Parts: sequence; C-alpha cells; structure tokens
Amino acid sequence: KNNGYDAWLRYDKVKDDGLASQYREWTAEIVASEAAVEGPVASAIKELQLALPRLIGQTPKLVEEKAASKRFLAIGTLNSFSYVEEAVQGPIAALNDDEGYLLKTITAADCSYLVVTGKTERAVLYGVFHLLRLMAQGESIQSLQLAEQPKYRLRMINHWDNMDGSIERGYAGRSIFYRNNELLVDSPRIVDYARLMASIGINGIAINNVNVHRAETFLITDKLLPQVAQFAAIFRSYGIKLFLSVNYAATIELGEVDTADPLDPRVQEWWKQKAEQIYSVIPDFGGFVVKADSENRPGPFTYNRDHADGANMLGEALKPYGGLVLWRCFVYDCHQDWRDRSTDRARAAYDHFKPLDGRFLDNVILQIKNGPMDFQVREPVSPLFGAMPNTNAVMEFQITQEYTGQQRHVCFLIPQWKEVLEFDTKVKGDGSTVKEIAAGSIHPYAHSGITAVTNVGDDDNWTGHHLAQANLYGYGRLLWNPELSSEQIAEEWVRITFPDSDAVQQLLVKFLLESWSIYESYTSPLGVGWMVTPHYHYGPDIDGYEYSKWGTYHFADHKGIGVNRTVASGTGYTSQYEPEHAARYESLETCPDELLLFFHHVPYTHVLHSGKTVIQHIYDTHFAGVERVEYWIERWKELAGEVDEQRFAHISGRLQEQLENSKEWRDIVNTYFFRKSGIADEKGRTIY
Ligand code: GCU
Repeated sequence: KNNGYDAWLRYDKVKDDGLASQYREWTAEIVASEAAVEGPVASAIKELQLALPRLIGQTPKLVEEKAASKRFLAIGTLNSFSYVEEAVQGPIAALNDDEGYLLKTITAADCSYLVVTGKTERAVLYGVFHLLRLMAQGESIQSLQLAEQPKYRLRMINHWDNMDGSIERGYAGRSIFYRNNELLVDSPRIVDYARLMASIGINGIAINNVNVHRAETFLITDKLLPQVAQFAAIFRSYGIKLFLSVNYAATIELGEVDTADPLDPRVQEWWKQKAEQIYSVIPDFGGFVVKADSENRPGPFTYNRDHADGANMLGEALKPYGGLVLWRCFVYDCHQDWRDRSTDRARAAYDHFKPLDGRFLDNVILQIKNGPMDFQVREPVSPLFGAMPNTNAVMEFQITQEYTGQQRHVCFLIPQWKEVLEFDTKVKGDGSTVKEIAAGSIHPYAHSGITAVTNVGDDDNWTGHHLAQANLYGYGRLLWNPELSSEQIAEEWVRITFPDSDAVQQLLVKFLLESWSIYESYTSPLGVGWMVTPHYHYGPDIDGYEYSKWGTYHFADHKGIGVNRTVASGTGYTSQYEPEHAARYESLETCPDELLLFFHHVPYTHVLHSGKTVIQHIYDTHFAGVERVEYWIERWKELAGEVDEQRFAHISGRLQEQLENSKEWRDIVNTYFFRKSGIADEKGRTIY
C-alpha cells in the first residue's frame, strides 16, 4: 500500500497531547447496541475501531448498555437508545431528512456522554465520519452540538468502468470492480472504496460505463447478477445503493426479444421481469442509468419513439420496487457536417428534451451535464437545467479530468462546480440558482440531486495524481453542503490528508485554489473549448476537431475566432436562457469575457472588458499560465521534508509533466494564432 491508499481516511496520530487525551477520555468506551448487526452502524463502529488506535493509540471498549465511565461515546439510531432520547429528540425532529445526524455532548447527573445519532443507520454512519473528521483535524469535541443534513437527496457517483478492466476516460489505472470480464468480488478495495464514499456522504454508485457494451449487457442476467449483488451488499453496509448502466437494446443484444421498441408489450414485459429478477437478489437496487440515442448508442429513436417513451418503459418496470431511471440528456448529432454552420451542438439537449416536459414518470430523472457541450474547462451552464419544471433532474459533473489535464495536471474543480451551482437561472425569478434547482426546491421534484463521473481506478492512490483526490473528496463535501467555500473544502482536505504542518497547509490550499484558472489560462481561451487532441483529449491540437463530425468548432480564420450563437446572426442558442441571461450573452457589451468566444465570433482585435484585445489576451494568458506552473513548482520544492518522500516525489514528477505539457499548449496555441492573425505579441515574447 502506498501513502495515498488511505486518502483522507489516514487518521494520522494526533500531535497535540491535550487533544489526544481529550479524545481518549471520550472514546474509551463506546455504547452501541446495534454494533453487532450488520449494517451502517456496525460499519461506523468498525471505522472507530480502526481509526481511534491510529489517532490516539487507544482501542475503544464496546458496551451495549450504559457505560461505567464518567465520559463515553453513545452511537446508534434514535430508537436504539433508551436514555438519551429527550436531549436529542428536539434537534433530530428539526431535521427534515432521514440522513441528517446529531453530534451532541450531553451532561447527565452521573456522567457526560457524546451522542452520535440520527433517524437511520446511514445517518449515524455519516455522523461518525463527521466526528472522526473533527478529530483528524484536531478540533475539540468537548462540547459539541452539531446537527447536519445533506442538501441533496441523490448524491451519486458514476463509474465509466468496463468489464475488461478498462475505464473510459480513466486516468488512475484499471477498474477496481472488473478484470478480464470478471467481477472482483473478493477485492478488499471494494470495502475501502465504500468507506471512502460513505465518509463523504455518497449514497448511490453506478458501477459500469454509460456506454454499455456486450459484456456489460450481461450484468443484469443470471450469469452476473449474483456477483453484482455481492458488491451491492458491501455498499449496503455503508448506506450506498448500487445502480447499473443498462443497454437500451438489451432485449435484442441478449437475443430475447427481436425489438427494443418501448411500446411493444413484449419489450415492456421483458423489462418488468428483469426488474423483478434484479430486486429478488438486490432488494435495495438503486436503478438504471441510461445513455440512449447518444453517440451511436441504441435508443427509442430507432422505432420513431421519443425519450419519454423509452425512459417511461423502464420507469414502469422499476416503479413497483422504488427504482429510479437516470436518463441522460447528452444527446446531440455526432455525425454533423462541419460545413453546416447552422447546426449547433450546444443547442441539442434543450431542443431534444424541453418539449417533453411533463411526459416523464415520477421515478424518471433526467441527468443533465453541467454545460451544453462536454465538461470543458469553461462552459456556460446548461440552459436545460431548470427549464423543465415538471421533470425530475440531476446535474452531472465530471470528476475525472478528461478535458482538464487527465490527472497529470493539477486542476481543483470545486471552484468550477461552485460557479455552476451558484448560477442563477432566473427560471422562477431571482434566486432560482442551480444549487436550489438540484435540491428540488425551485420546482418540487420527486427526485433530484447531483451525480458525477468519478476519477477512481486501481492505482495505489485511487486517483492517479495524489492531488486529484481533492476533487473526489470535495465533490462529496459540496453535495452535502454547497455553502462550504472552495477554500474551506481545500483546507479540510489538506488537513486530513497531509501531515499536520502549516507550510503544507498554506501552500497546498493556495495552489489548489488557483489551479483551475491556471489550467484554463494555458489551454483554450475565452470559453471556446476543445482544441484538444481528438479522441484522447490530452494536449493541444487546435484544429483537431475543427473539420470533424462532432460539432465542436472554433471557426478561427485570419480575421477572428469564436462561435456565433446569437439570435441576431448566429445559431440562436442564447434564446434557450431566460431573457435576462439571453440578453446578457447576446450582446457583446455584456457577454462575460470568459465566455466571449463561446457566444460570439469576433475579430482578434476586439477589446475585452479587461481592456485587452482578444489576441493579446490569448498571448498573455498562455505565457502567464506556464509561469504560474513554474512558480508553483518552485514553491512545492519548499515542502521537501515536510511531506513524505513517496508523495513528494510523485507530485514533483507530475508537476514536471504538467510543465512540459503546458509549454506545448502555450507554444502551439500562441503560434497558431500568431500565424492566423499576423498580429505580433505587444511584449515581443517568443512565438514560433
Ligand atoms: C464524452 C466522453 C465520452 C463519454 C461521453 C458521455 O463525450 O468523451 O467518453 O462516453 O462523454 O458522457 O456519454
């Protein structure tokens, strides 16, 4: 095991003697009547038994009834206690959520105790992870009164893992779930993975790629379901529901019905039986994730049916068991003719789905990517989000750094996600933020929340780059509480993941917080996106997608650059936003600089709000981006000796690679635009 394996659950020894003895006093005895029964409370106890010896060198004693000591820890669901009820009932009743918990120090006549409780076992597990996080951060637990509940109901992770062990867009090794078309049911990593996910509040995980190929189509058959059920059992003990991505044409692919027409009764019946079969082995199965009629995947279009027909057919099948259908909206024409300037990929999701509002069943949820394109370093917020008041929705983010440096570059994505969440769509007037829409508080959705494509693989440290763990950690924390600032999240993560040192703390937090903007500065400018090596999406290739079928263009010529998405003279995409945003994006005067080239085609000499011309902005940011990487490499060197050698060397190596690659970006982008425009850099720097 390497030094990244434990990730943020390291439980390094508490250095402060005073705190350590305080923790010892409160945790010497743990009262937990549910500890013996398999489930999230038992997992919570196991976690304490693992963590406390590491944190404070003391193994807790488990007792079922009231403890003998004057101070102790009491852990369990509200129902499991006889003596604490009064003091906790009020705060627990105030939580309107089953997953909320209470951490409270209670002083009784003859003793004091710290209680961790909630309405469900899962809540208790979350509470225990919170308590451990406090100790790992060196916070006093002397007089606690903390009631917390998650902002989002669905807090999901999507794996793009294939059964051959490969991971689509994976940058951290092979799959933790599969190898050579077998399920790794005995892998100890699965339990550790469940611990990591539960510790940040994840409650649903889809374990296979949205592109469901032949082998994975069998995950819902007799052949593989029993093994899938083994993963589900592990997840269950950590409060996590298992989801599967399914092949929309499974009926055909498995040779059982010769059509996948959603209105054909044989197809409907087949899926109903399939659901019954799945729930007979996984009673708490979460549901299906479906990528249909997208990037050549099968779907209802073949039968002249629409997305609502397809999704509802699956919804009907899962409904009796409370299962969900997460129907992805990543639907666009991927066989576009680049000569055709009127077709705009950015419009596609809205154009396809908006007219279907109100047609989807209650247990169907549309899964909408954060932007209208595809997880670029900068995109506007998808106008589809909030635009369908009568249709459940979840937001989809990408933790895996497909377009943001592939875990070779440092790119802390929490600031990006926060910008998306804070975006006020105005769909119901001021305050209709994405953050609230995803919580189901703007439109009263039956189901809502957030999901993301994960960055995990079987590398020792899970995420390839040690610092990429921060994105996974931060994702969960943000879903629990989107009011946390990027800085708070970064601080918390660094504190529990790296040695207790002010130098490490200060430097890493600053570096993380700046990293997204650094990455943006040396890659594609002003929101235009792409310019990446086709297929791999790593490193620069300015025209890589320019004459391709994928609909991802920048239209650079000798005069200017950008995509005209205005109503006045372009594709009309701006009209998909509420009037206030539509007007803001439509006009050159008000369009924000960082999205200028997403919405407008302008001459290189166009002057930005910043006062610079577009071309000078391109040069300046590309030089500055590389300089910042150089700066942070120098700063990182200061931490030699402060961070364990293994992680220090690994991060140093990756930073060097980031530097080399960022120089490629800088020089290729600058040279390309210099050659196109013929305009020299004002500062006379080297352009080739
Ligand atoms: C991106 C990504 C694909 C993925 C697709 C999706 O286009 O490059 O690998 O399959 O998104 O989200 O379905």
